[in-house]
Amino acid sequence: MKMRVLGNSNIQVSAIGLGAMGMDHAYGPQSDRDEMKSLLKRAVDLGCNFFDTAPVYGESNERLLGEAFKGIRENVIIATKFGITGQEKVSNKIQNKLNSKPNSIRQQIDGSLERLETDYIDLYFQHRVDPDVEPEEVAQTMSELIQEGKIKAWGVSEAPLDYIKRAHRICPISAIENQYSMVYRKPEDELFEFCEEQNIAFVAYSPLGNGFLSGKYSDNQSFSDDDFRSEMGRFKPEVMAQNQAVLDEITQMAKDKNVTPAQIVLAWELHQKPFIIPIPGTTKIERLKENLKSNEVELSEQELDYLNQTLDKLDIDETHF
Ligand SMILES: NC(=O)c1ccc[n+]([C@@H]2O[C@H](COP(=O)([O-])OP(=O)(O)OC[C@H]3O[C@@H](n4cnc5c(N)ncnc54)[C@H](OP(=O)(O)O)[C@@H]3O)[C@@H](O)[C@H]2O)c1
Repeated sequence: MKMRVLGNSNIQVSAIGLGAMGMDHAYGPQSDRDEMKSLLKRAVDLGCNFFDTAPVYGESNERLLGEAFKGIRENVIIATKFGITGQEKVSNKIQNKLNSKPNSIRQQIDGSLERLETDYIDLYFQHRVDPDVEPEEVAQTMSELIQEGKIKAWGVSEAPLDYIKRAHRICPISAIENQYSMVYRKPEDELFEFCEEQNIAFVAYSPLGNGFLSGKYSDNQSFSDDDFRSEMGRFKPEVMAQNQAVLDEITQMAKDKNVTPAQIVLAWELHQKPFIIPIPGTTKIERLKENLKSNEVELSEQELDYLNQTLDKLDIDETHF
C-alpha cells in the first residue's frame, strides 16, 4: 500500500482510507457489529491504516473502531469529528445541530475518546462550521488540545476558504475533508491550490459519488427510507441519466485495463494530486479489497489527460448530495 502524509503533520496514512459512516448511518440499517469489526481489522491486514468516523454517524460507530482496534491502536490513524451534536428532520430535510463553542468541543472530545477507547485522536475535524463561533476561537481550542496531547492534528470539513485561512493562521490545519469525485469537482476551483501552497492534505469523502460511480446502481434502483440516497439529488433518475456518460467512459477504460470502474475512479483521484486521500466507505470485504487495490492502478499521462478532457466536456450534474 502506498502511503501519503497528512499535510504539515508527520502522520503517514495509507493512500486509500476507509470511511466507517455507512456501517451505522445514512445508507440503511446498521450493519452487523462482528462483521464490521472483522472488516475493520481486515482493512488493517490489507495495509489500510486510515479510518474516518464521527459521533453523528451514531455513537456506536466510534465504539466499533474502539473495539476493532483494541491492542493495535498505535498501528492506525483515526479521524473523528466535532461540531455536529445531533440531527433533526425539519420539513423532511435533515438539519444538523451545530456547536463549536470551546466548552462543548471539550465535552465532545471526551465522549469520542471514551468511545474510541483511546487517549488521543490523530486527526480531529470540525465537521461543519458553527456560525456562532469565530474560526480563531475554534483554532485556539485546537491548539490547546494539541498541547494537551488529546489530538495530534486537526482539520475542517466543508468550510469556506476564508474561514479556513483565518483558522489556519492561528493553528495550522493539516487536512481539509470535503466531497470530491468525478461527479463533484468543485474543490478543484480553489481549494487544491490552497492545499498545495500551504501543505495541507485533502481527504476526499464520498469519492465514489455515494456508490454511483461504481456503476452498480441503476436508475430504477430503490433505496429504503432510512437510506439517504432515497432523497439525494444524485440518485434521481434524470440526474443519473445525465451522469451516465461518466459511467460509460470509466467502464470502458476499466475494461481496457482489466480493473473495475471503482478502481479507475479512485486511481484517478490519487493521480489528480499527491495530497489527496480518498476514503471510500464499504460494508463488504470484497469491495474493501477492490477499493484498496486501486492504489496499484497506474494511469498514464495520456489516460489521465483523456479522462480529464472527457470530464471537462461532459455536462455533469454536480448535485452536492
Ligand atoms: N465530512 C463529511 O461531511 C462526510 C460526509 C460524507 C461522508 N464522509 C466520510 O466519507 C466516507 C465515504 O463516503 P460515502 O460513504 O458517503 O460515499 P462513497 O465512499 O462514495 O460510497 C459509499 C457507497 O458505495 C458503496 N461502495 C463502496 N465501494 C464500492 C464498490 N467497490 N463497488 C460498489 N459499491 C461500492 C457502498 O456500499 P456497500 O457498503 O454496500 O459496499 C456505499 O453505499 C464515509 O464513510 C464517511 O466516513 C464524510
